[in-house]
Amino acid sequence: LQTESGLIHGGNLNALAGAYGIAPQNWIDLSTGISPVSYPVPDIPPGVWRQLPQEDPELLKIAGNYYGADELMVTSGSQAMIQTLPGYRLQLGFQKARVWLPLQGYKEHEKAWCQQGFLVQHYSQLPEVSQLIPQDVVVVINPNNPTGECYSPQQLCDLLTVLAQLQGWLIVDEAFMDSEPEGFSMAEYSNQPECFVLKSVGKFFGLAGIRLGFLLANPQHLQGLKRLQGPWQVNGAALYIAKHALADKAWQASHLQQLQALSAELESFLSRHFHPHLTRPVAGRLLFKTCYIRNATAWYHALCQKAVYVRLTDEGDALRFGLPLASQLKVLNDTLSSIEFI
Ligand SMILES: Cc1ncc(COP(=O)(O)O)c(C=O)c1O
Repeated sequence: LQTESGLIHGGNLNALAGAYGIAPQNWIDLSTGISPVSYPVPDIPPGVWRQLPQEDPELLKIAGNYYGADELMVTSGSQAMIQTLPGYRLQLGFQKARVWLPLQGYKEHEKAWCQQGFLVQHYSQLPEVSQLIPQDVVVVINPNNPTGECYSPQQLCDLLTVLAQLQGWLIVDEAFMDSEPEGFSMAEYSNQPECFVLKSVGKFFGLAGIRLGFLLANPQHLQGLKRLQGPWQVNGAALYIAKHALADKAWQASHLQQLQALSAELESFLSRHFHPHLTRPVAGRLLFKTCYIRNATAWYHALCQKAVYVRLTDEGDALRFGLPLASQLKVLNDTLSSIEFI
């Protein structure tokens, strides 16, 4: 569904429900890659509502520990930084040069760079270092949503080394990194002045509604970006909740196990159901599965007519399924079985 930004995203169920004439409460919404189980939000002390949000060194320490970086700042979701970085680069005096963006992937990056007048160069595989020119910016969504592709830190470090020599930047969107094996994040390289790493508290913790994320970057950049953003961009309740969620190792471990079980079930179900209509094996990561199938658009509408909301890719070549709970998987099974192959 088209959002205020003019791009198509999952979520926004009310509008879709209206379009299909089915009340929102009757839908199964698998249109996003947000965990279907949320962190159990603690009671918020009244002072948190009353006071202006404050920078909290303890939260930064907890988040730094969780993400593996010493230097970071809170942001109102990773989206806030996606929108801010292109203008910040211009403010630093760099030219409106070229930005490399994944051909398929979260399109808000592209929109933000285009709005500031940068020239978009798409890639389906990371650019070769020989293809880079001075002041190039490379944006990597790692792991990618919706393709599920994930690059190793070694590949990204090779790129970063060359970009640093070219006065370029490497921006790594790690919104879906939480559930990947340790060692895939670029966090430990984020203190290099040419490297920016975006984190989202929305996806793995199922807390997209509180709008919270982090930027891992060099301290000078953090200072500049905080100044550019202005005060009180992140609300106090979100900060309070994040402090609990990011420190709660026991919940994180059991949550990961639960998601792994749901994810494996969804993947095997989709592989079975759509075989042999898949144009490639079911892709995706822990929190979403992407089925590249013929007639994906027709499947999307057929599912909507039966109140099952999934994400049709921007290219119209695949359906992306967020994780269903066990009870929802049963409904998904029944619904898909009731649709004749298109
Ligand atoms: C790859 C990717 N990055 C960033 C975002 C923005 O997430 P948030 O602003 O909730 O952190 C999304 C949202 O869907 C996404 O898919």
